[in-house]
Amino acid sequence: MTRLLSCCLNAACMGLMDAGLPMRSLFCGVKCALDNDGNITLDPNVRQEKESRAVLTFAIESLERKVLMMSSRGLYSATELQQCIAATQLASKKLFQFYRDFITRRYSKS
Ligand SMILES: *[C@@H]1O[C@H](CO)[C@@H](O)[C@H](O)[C@H]1NC(C)=O
Repeated sequence: MTRLLSCCLNAACMGLMDAGLPMRSLFCGVKCALDNDGNITLDPNVRQEKESRAVLTFAIESLERKVLMMSSRGLYSATELQQCIAATQLASKKLFQFYRDFITRRYSKS
């Protein structure tokens, strides 16, 4: 479930955008893995996820980059949670840019 969650969130938001639903802000899902040394890997692959101590998935909204939802497994400290949130908020910038490019391309075609 955790593996698919961030994908589903992104697909859901893009689907809503594509349907032309008026939305005040966008949202995206980003996954963050912590290894035994506390190293952070964003968007981990299957192997990185297996070797991780914890995996956290966040839904971030685009206006203030607030955390809308979070799902996690494994053990992590309060500091690691904050570090993951910060890394995820940064990564969400790229995803929102990707959304905008996608929509721009889509509507410039028709
Ligand atoms: C964490 O990162 C450091 C520095 O890149 C690396 O040497 C270490 O092996 C990493 N830890 C794990 C458990 O992968």
